[in-house]
Amino acid sequence: MNTAGIVIGALVMVGAFTLGWRWASRKWSLPCPSLLAWTLDNSLVVQSPLTLKTLDRIGFRPGEKVLEIGPGPGRLLIPAAKRVMPGGEVVGIDIQPKMIERLEAREKAAGITNLTTILGDATQPHVPEASFDLAFLCTTLGEIPDRSAALVQCYQALKPGGRLSITELIPDPHYQTRSTVRRLAEEAGFRLLSIQGGWCFYTANFVKLPTDNASRSPERLLSATASPPGMSG
Ligand SMILES: C[S@@+](CC[C@H](N)C(=O)[O-])C[C@H]1O[C@@H](n2cnc3c(N)ncnc32)[C@H](O)[C@@H]1O
Repeated sequence: MNTAGIVIGALVMVGAFTLGWRWASRKWSLPCPSLLAWTLDNSLVVQSPLTLKTLDRIGFRPGEKVLEIGPGPGRLLIPAAKRVMPGGEVVGIDIQPKMIERLEAREKAAGITNLTTILGDATQPHVPEASFDLAFLCTTLGEIPDRSAALVQCYQALKPGGRLSITELIPDPHYQTRSTVRRLAEEAGFRLLSIQGGWCFYTANFVKLPTDNASRSPERLLSATASPPGMSG
């Protein structure tokens, strides 16, 4: 077999594997194996423009209480813990013990003291209701078979006016389209604020609307939906 044949064969095999994994993930919980955690937390990826852009698009504010669903080894949650200082704190819920172990090791190495880890399934309640300002997911939603249940848990965890941020990236085998993300978030009760980026790498930001009439005042809604400083497209 010539070189072109080998390359095409390899691409077909990778494509078939990705499609198979994606299909199976809709039925069973098949999270990104912790053996692949190094692909997420090596310094090249952690310091890449893609990671920095994702952090900017999510838009962390000092003093906020932030929840990440599926932080893995903490590529985003470790810098998020720094960005919410002074006064803020972050919590990460991950279903895999090895990912939590790796996250805790990186937290310790970085000297972070405002990060809490929770081992658990994001479709179950783990945190007090209405206790977070921001919940975010990056390349995680598609790994959760009951995606709606996970977004309902985010809704419960957020304060009225709290934000939900979802980032998706095309090489991810569990990639979710913008229309799917929007539909699932709106079904869970969120309203779309913005979608930044193109279809292959985007961040969709939503808001949990206040439920009482007093907090629906134009001033309150405006402050809940204002773009945070440093937000970029
Ligand atoms: C592809 S990794 C993304 C890690 C991180 N968000 C990032 O962008 O670097 C997805 C993570 O979601 C976690 N995960 C998958 N299903 C989950 C569930 N039902 N509940 C909580 N975490 C889950 C996996 O264990 C994995 O650590």
